[in-house]
Amino acid sequence: MRIGVLRGRENSFPDAVIAKVNSMDKGVAAEFVQLGGTKLNDPVPYRVILDRMSHEVPYYSVYLKMAALQGTYVINNIFWRCADDKFFGYCAAEKLGIKEPKTVVLPNRAYVEDVNDESLRNLWPADFEMYLSFVGLPCIMKPAFGGGWKDVNKIHNLEEMLFHYNTSGQKTMMLQELITWDAFIRVPTIGRRHARAIRYDPAPLGRGGYNQDYDALPRGMRDKAEELSLRFNQALGYDMNALEFAFKDGKYYGIDLTNYTPDLDYRSLKDAHFPWAVEKMAEFAVEKALWGALSGLISALLVFPIAAVVPATPVHLHVSWPILLTLVPLACVMCGAFGLMFGTRVEPRSVPAMFGIVLLPLTFLGAVYYSWATLGPVQWLKVVVLVNPLVYMSEGFRSALTTAPHMTLWAIYPVMIGFTALFMWLGVTGFRKRVLS
Ligand SMILES: Nc1ncnc2c1ncn2[C@@H]1O[C@H](COP(=O)(O)OP(=O)(O)OP(=O)(O)O)[C@@H](O)[C@H]1O
Ligand SMILES: [Mg+2]
Repeated sequence: MRIGVLRGRENSFPDAVIAKVNSMDKGVAAEFVQLGGTKLNDPVPYRVILDRMSHEVPYYSVYLKMAALQGTYVINNIFWRCADDKFFGYCAAEKLGIKEPKTVVLPNRAYVEDVNDESLRNLWPADFEMYLSFVGLPCIMKPAFGGGWKDVNKIHNLEEMLFHYNTSGQKTMMLQELITWDAFIRVPTIGRRHARAIRYDPAPLGRGGYNQDYDALPRGMRDKAEELSLRFNQALGYDMNALEFAFKDGKYYGIDLTNYTPDLDYRSLKDAHFPWAVEKMAEFAVEKALWGALSGLISALLVFPIAAVVPATPVHLHVSWPILLTLVPLACVMCGAFGLMFGTRVEPRSVPAMFGIVLLPLTFLGAVYYSWATLGPVQWLKVVVLVNPLVYMSEGFRSALTTAPHMTLWAIYPVMIGFTALFMWLGVTGFRKRVLS
């Protein structure tokens, strides 16, 4: 079982998570993902991928969506990236009972080349003065898709606002009520379960610092900020995030809540908090990897007792041992041969698709849920399904275990032997071809 990690320039966090997972001895190995172009439905060898870079490498996000389709658990959920603008975060937070500064999102100042006046007929001139008096002055102007404190400015009057708006280009800008906080709190969170509210001194250009004393914030304040952060992450599905709150007059204002790839670097968290982030992320990724395997087992544990209780009439088996003891080995060999043929004759990347195209129809038209004789009213179907090996197997088991009407054994055995020989021949020659080519 493997966990893959996609990384960018950062060195400390991804390396440390990989080392931690590999040292946990849980039957799960972690490594950096290697990519270089991907074919349609290429099998993804990872149960979990920790994504630290798709926000800047679009090819990664295309790959991760395909991986998610195959059942890989991607941290963070790649489909949520389309909703990670700050404005959406504020709206969602307010609905979740988190206080937000008054905020307005503005129409863009500039557009890609093809956009002209006709393209913008839904837009009405924005009343900037009205919006400024709504949020109050001074206020903050910042991008809705922001990060790294880029283009975040304090605005004192309309002229300043217009200056920054006119230079914002294609960015989507917001005006926001300025909160003059008593304390600023940043809360790295992992796995929608673990949150660590830390006193934070904001500063531009990555110079902001986490206070190295976890107790610098009073316990009650920490608990509240952690509770709000987890509430937000659980509602939106962030498995890693770093939320920012401005604390003022007993209220917690959500300032920056949607960080798809939060900064978890050693240089920011340092010794007081970095080991916490690494440990929680490694544990979470391993848990997700193992959960995939466990869930199959748990489903079986649930389904078997239900199957024992659900039938309206008790199930009575009438075992015919000679048939059962000869049919079981024959059915096993036939299915094994079918698997060998399937595995060697079908392109590996088409295998997942084949499950839908071949295996589902084989099962539904395999006399599993009804006996072959009941197809009598649809005579043509009754004839067509005779090419399906599963029909003979199901009818064989029907005769071995029940008193229900079934196909004659004179047909079941010879046809199953014939199919076994055919599949075996195709499988073995296919295997030889694969190995030698
Ligand atoms: N409404 C506000 N009131 C007061 N200060 C604010 C407000 N919004 C933003 N700031 C200040 O600007 C800083 C950067 O804003 P914000 O976090 O929204 O942008 P960012 O680009 O995500 O920055 P970073 O990557 O540093 O988190 C905040 O840390 C805070 O100090
Ligand atoms: Mg921020």
